[in-house]
Amino acid sequence: MTIRDILTIPDPLLRERCVPVAAVDDAVRALMDDMLETMYDAPGIGLAASQIGVMKRVVVIDTSSRKTEDGEGAEIEPRDPLFLVNPEITWLSEDISVYQEGCLSIPEYFEDVERPAEIKVRFLDRNGKQDEMHCAGLLATVVQHEVDHLNGVLFIDHISKLKRDRVWKKFAKAKKRGEAV
Ligand code: NI
Repeated sequence: MTIRDILTIPDPLLRERCVPVAAVDDAVRALMDDMLETMYDAPGIGLAASQIGVMKRVVVIDTSSRKTEDGEGAEIEPRDPLFLVNPEITWLSEDISVYQEGCLSIPEYFEDVERPAEIKVRFLDRNGKQDEMHCAGLLATVVQHEVDHLNGVLFIDHISKLKRDRVWKKFAKAKKRGEAV
């Protein structure tokens, strides 16, 4: 397993649509393992393949995983990874919930985002078997956030244009100067 570099805005790949995976084979499983390792290392609770520059409809999620506050030390166990290939949201609740979201591709930036509180998602699992899952709470938010990534949509697209433009420009400027944000 390899920890890959995570793309950050304004990288144009983050604005592109990913293509469906034809079959969940060993190459796709190896990609998912790299994504999971990269996500745990960051640390984060969800990662879409486009965030490491692989334009395939593949997502990994683990809402149980979090490092300690200082980024050191033991992670919270047990790990409970979820692998979603070609995920499709088939139902959204009318109820809305609000979570403060962040994104590994927009480091250190957090904003409240409103989304449907519950969803159903259909996907292929790690073995290529079709599955459907009902999600609520944080998991519902994370799945929607990651499926957005596969369509070139970022969480900042769900906040005001003023705030979005501000954060986009900040990252673009820093990248031009060759600095990390
Ligand atoms: Ni993200």
